[in-house]
Amino acid sequence: MKTAQDVLAERFQTEPPTSNKHLIRWVEKMADLCRPESIHWVDGSKVEYDAICDRLVATGTFVRLNKKQWPGCFYARSVPSDVARVEDRTFICSLSRDSAGPTNNWEDPFVMRRRLKQLFRGCMQGRTMYVLPFSMGPVGSPMSAIGVQLTDSAYVVAQMRTMARIGAPVFAEIDKDEKRVVPCMHSVGMPLRPGQTDVPWPCNETKYIVHFPETREIWSYGSGYGGNALLSKKCFALRIASNIARDEGWMAEHMLILGVESPEGEKTYVAAAFPSACGKTNFAMLIPPKAMQGWKVWTVGDDIAWIRPDARGRLRAINPEAGFFGVAPGTGEKTNPVAMATLAHNSIFTNVALTRDGGVWWEGMTEKPPAECLDWRGERWTPEIGKQTGRTAAHPNGRFTAPASQCPTIDPDWESPDGVPISAIIFGGRRSTTLPLVYQAFNWSSGVYIGATMGSETTAAASGAVGQVRRDPMAMLPFCGYHMGDYFRHWIKMQRELEVTPRIFHVNWFRKDDEGKFIWPGYGENMRILRWIVDRVHGRTQGRETPIGWVPHYDDIDWSGIEFSRTTFNGLLEIDRIAWKKEVISHEELFINLHDHLPPEMIYERELLICRL
Ligand code: OXD
Ligand code: MN
Repeated sequence: MKTAQDVLAERFQTEPPTSNKHLIRWVEKMADLCRPESIHWVDGSKVEYDAICDRLVATGTFVRLNKKQWPGCFYARSVPSDVARVEDRTFICSLSRDSAGPTNNWEDPFVMRRRLKQLFRGCMQGRTMYVLPFSMGPVGSPMSAIGVQLTDSAYVVAQMRTMARIGAPVFAEIDKDEKRVVPCMHSVGMPLRPGQTDVPWPCNETKYIVHFPETREIWSYGSGYGGNALLSKKCFALRIASNIARDEGWMAEHMLILGVESPEGEKTYVAAAFPSACGKTNFAMLIPPKAMQGWKVWTVGDDIAWIRPDARGRLRAINPEAGFFGVAPGTGEKTNPVAMATLAHNSIFTNVALTRDGGVWWEGMTEKPPAECLDWRGERWTPEIGKQTGRTAAHPNGRFTAPASQCPTIDPDWESPDGVPISAIIFGGRRSTTLPLVYQAFNWSSGVYIGATMGSETTAAASGAVGQVRRDPMAMLPFCGYHMGDYFRHWIKMQRELEVTPRIFHVNWFRKDDEGKFIWPGYGENMRILRWIVDRVHGRTQGRETPIGWVPHYDDIDWSGIEFSRTTFNGLLEIDRIAWKKEVISHEELFINLHDHLPPEMIYERELLICRL
């Protein structure tokens, strides 16, 4: 009879490219559990990537796009039941329920481990198990961290080559044995019987996205889509990293990072937290209006920031990712030409429409839709069919996966191992009423209160109802890997480490008039607000005090090249005391849930706000 060791020896196609005994033993143990047909140690090379893409084309997962128009690009379509992050199937399995807090799904880790073992037993039969090492942040940077994902999805491996630094250089880093490696198990949950042909999008109706914060482990089962499957992103860089950051005194945040360059060459970096699908990618790639000559915005990251105090007590941030996994619908030459240039080659498109000439299209890419295409479900779509059925050609959470290095505005320091200095933090949500266009917090703790009570109207990035206001503290509601009250405490505590405290702001680009139309033009025009923020940071402009914070005077804003009336602007900044009282009362919903872990600052800030109103 063959021993498990013999079976494993047959499965290894190549020698493990690492001497790390823990890693090899873990891979052997997991292979023994999942029973893959073969094991592939990912080296991250272009040759390997090309071979994986060829295989994906052969299995029908990928369609190679028209090489002339979309060089190096591929198209994929998921099944309709696997199109977004599944928050109700996402678990934080800390030892105690209390450590996960009321905003996370919790399950006893022992019970969950037993369940996962059952699910993963034999789950990779007939498939290859890829051993995919990845570095979050530049390889070797003191601010980076390492994970290894075992996955039976070649689609995931292809995506991860864009989204993170993967392969041989990461194995070399692991072999230095200096950093703890976060183990990430992933299976689409569809073993193949001998002779069974594969489907283009294997997955399982049963889904589990599980985090063990104490042991820093991730187990994901049943989904091949986005944040459920690219475990480096939300699972590691936010849920597990937020635990590591709390323990080590830094911050893992759902934030973009950008640098504003003034005509004089002064560079100011800001980090901004907006909930999913609220325009983080657009903001990170903003092109200032032509009339604001000499101003430039540089992109460091569009989704996640790891932020740490440096030796001089200043916060510095890295983007732990290497690519953009952006929402495609709404991205076009008018709204985000930088993203359009970034994704023009070497990109992967998922759940958008496929055009007849082997290209892609989605709502908002161009004003005029193609006369005919295949929609994200693979069905014939024409503008007429769209009108009749109400079906969009692209799924609202259809995505592009594009390398950050291709971004024309990528900051020269985006891969700096020490990160970039952060001078301001911006919170923002999608709110049609009440929240002004911009305001500045009085100080750090009032800023933490603003972030903690952020609300936004829900979007399609997660499954569930769209358009309802939900409290999304620091845009971390689905991503904070521990008790939200303790997370606020951690934010409050961080200020004690700082010599220079970043200023905190809140923006709302989405206020609507009585007819339901957006009042603020948004996109590039947001530069005017960004400039005010930068001016405030450097103490160059006064601002006006209101009960909720500082707002700009009309004359403090650079209006060059645009007619925007004083009345409309003042309307956008209006603080309606009655609406605000209701707003503050609605904060209670969050606070009641978290009350036994809330830092006292949150209670006092709320009282102060009520008094000022
Ligand atoms: C994302 C999200 O994919 O926040 O970035 O959902
Ligand atoms: Mn995000």
